[in-house]
Amino acid sequence: MKDLLTINALTAEEIEDILTLSAELKKKQKNRQMDCPLIGRTLGMFFEKPSTRTRVSFEVGIYQLGGQAIVLPVSDLQIGRGETIADTARVLSRYIDAIVIRTFEHKIVEEWAGHASIPVINGLTDMHHPCQALADVFTIKEKKGSLKGLKLTYIGDGNNVAHSLIEICAKTGVDISLACPKGYEPDKKIVKDAIEDAKRQGSSINIIADPIKAANNADILYTDVWASMGQEKEHKKRLKIFKDYQLNKKLLKSAKPDALVMHCLPAHRGEEITEEVLEGTNSVIFDQAENRLHTQKAVMLRLMK
Ligand code: CP
Ligand code: NVA
Repeated sequence: MKDLLTINALTAEEIEDILTLSAELKKKQKNRQMDCPLIGRTLGMFFEKPSTRTRVSFEVGIYQLGGQAIVLPVSDLQIGRGETIADTARVLSRYIDAIVIRTFEHKIVEEWAGHASIPVINGLTDMHHPCQALADVFTIKEKKGSLKGLKLTYIGDGNNVAHSLIEICAKTGVDISLACPKGYEPDKKIVKDAIEDAKRQGSSINIIADPIKAANNADILYTDVWASMGQEKEHKKRLKIFKDYQLNKKLLKSAKPDALVMHCLPAHRGEEITEEVLEGTNSVIFDQAENRLHTQKAVMLRLMK
């Protein structure tokens, strides 16, 4: 494992190992047992889209492991004036020990990884959000005890978060059902590849148009924004298209009584999720956000040590 660009590039064993290590790191942090396995190491952070959780949890995480972070705003780098990714990646590889990239097209992180000799971590692209998916299954395992045989229902846009969830559910034996409006289903190739992994784990992937049917008997209900970063101009149009794909009380009734409510955040209350469900007793959304810190520390340890 040199980079973390997609969940699909990880084996089931590597995911299991990251989850185990994340639990150890979380326990250590709660007990204030600090050691510094990444002392002297530097993490670069190159973000072409806004971020609260990813940026802060990586920055705090590397400090807690004894290393340091440098935030590299596009506007401050020569890349903003046309220096190539290839040259920037090769130069930065001489100074820093790993880099987190948040960008638009997925091929941009692949280009970074192709030229960098250091690990490249995908902090979100238009197609994938692997760091989020690791924290998500870690949270589910923490709350439910195990993963295999659970049913996760994702409601809304077949976007980056949905893609990484599909891949991680397939690799960890979680059944996933997705309810998306017509034309907003997840990428066909990602689903096709994940079906192979799901077969190996004895789990299933279902794309269902009706959200209530999709949520039937679910152990986890998950949603994300209707318009992702970069799709702001489509927001108004999407409000109409997605209006029946809201995580609300009615949908929650279709799931198991102890179903977990999850959202990667940031949330748009009253759009993809109602205030009462987001703040309700089934919600584990803020634990899920916290767990970004613990799982990303595990990723950094595996890639940078
Ligand atoms: N969930 C997530 O990645 O949040 P940020 O956009 O705040 O990093
Ligand atoms: N799908 C959202 C996730 C934000 C963390 C986006 O890409 O904007």
